[in-house]
Amino acid sequence: MSDETYLNIDHVTKRFGKVLAVNDAQIAIRRGEFFSLLGPSGCGKTTLLRMIAGFEFPDAGEIYFEGMRMTDEPPHMRPSNMVFQSYAIFPHLNVFNNIAYGLRRERLARAELQRRVEDALVMIKLDGFGPRGANELSGGQRQRVALARALVRRPKVLLLDEPLGALDRRLREAMQIELRALQKSVGITFVFVTHDQEEALSMSDRIAVMSAGQVLQIASPRELYEAPNCREVADFIGQMNFFDGKVTGRDGGMARIDAGALGMMEIETGASTGASVLLALRPEKIALSAAATNSVKGTVMAAAYLGERSHYNIDVPGLNEPVSVATQNVGKIASQGHEPGDTVHMTWPPGALVVLPRD
Ligand SMILES: Nc1ncnc2c1ncn2[C@@H]1O[C@H](COP(=O)(O)OP(=O)(O)O)[C@@H](O)[C@H]1O
Ligand SMILES: [Mg+2]
Repeated sequence: MSDETYLNIDHVTKRFGKVLAVNDAQIAIRRGEFFSLLGPSGCGKTTLLRMIAGFEFPDAGEIYFEGMRMTDEPPHMRPSNMVFQSYAIFPHLNVFNNIAYGLRRERLARAELQRRVEDALVMIKLDGFGPRGANELSGGQRQRVALARALVRRPKVLLLDEPLGALDRRLREAMQIELRALQKSVGITFVFVTHDQEEALSMSDRIAVMSAGQVLQIASPRELYEAPNCREVADFIGQMNFFDGKVTGRDGGMARIDAGALGMMEIETGASTGASVLLALRPEKIALSAAATNSVKGTVMAAAYLGERSHYNIDVPGLNEPVSVATQNVGKIASQGHEPGDTVHMTWPPGALVVLPRD
């Protein structure tokens, strides 16, 4: 993967009647990148992908591939190929002909066609499955054939719309690993649509989080998780505790924040004196101990033992909602857990609290 932009979505907007499906999206996707569009159902992911493919056209904005304006070009003029949400393969064709179908336009010599399809079969680990009927395949195999049919045309960009959505959980997890490995080995740029945050986090180089037609944040999985830029992203990716805070003063890059029941704290942020802010803290960043240190005291309201980890809800006087805490049980014995009713003390490392704007 290089830093150079391959696919530039430049202030793209699309309306359907009164629905603003995509609102001024600005995304620069790099060559060889595994890039995901992530967001809840209806947020505009498919519409954006279809505009990249050329099945829909923007009302405003431009789409460039390698600096070439492709905004109004039909799908076959673009260096992209799409794998659809429902893995549409032809039930009456065998595997070989399903894959060869993708090459029909190219009028290849017979031997070349044969070689390209066989290469694709090896790529998707269905070597020797050519004569197999499409209806003799499992769901996972059918999805791999749909993938091969798109890959066999050697697109520079593969567009995938929730391609694993129809698979059961275990198969989906296996396919996630396979798809990621395949993408790295062929080096094709992938634009992958999903509403599943875990799927996006585990597969992507970078992710654009979308909500109601808007791109909220574009970042690596780690950055999205550790440094979300707003409440919506923080809420959508993993679990998060939120607290109210007020900046009471500043010292260089650090702000002094009054977080009510959590006490006073110093956090690195640009928020100005007097500003009301939202403080976000991941459950697993919090450590619990029975001993009082320089910490926040609370009472265990609920405890769930999940084997390698435990989840707790901790009631803190002065807070409206209990604090979620997730602790690892690795290196502990069972008696080191906490029970409902126990008094506990919470600590977290400096920098674990993320300061967000209040909306
Ligand atoms: N062809 C269409 N006609 C009218 N409204 C549409 C059409 N396609 C999508 N929409 C609307 O645009 C919004 C975004 O849809 P979509 O891009 O399919 O979201 P997602 O893929 O994230 O679930 C939704 O409100 C949807 O109902
Ligand atoms: Mg969709």
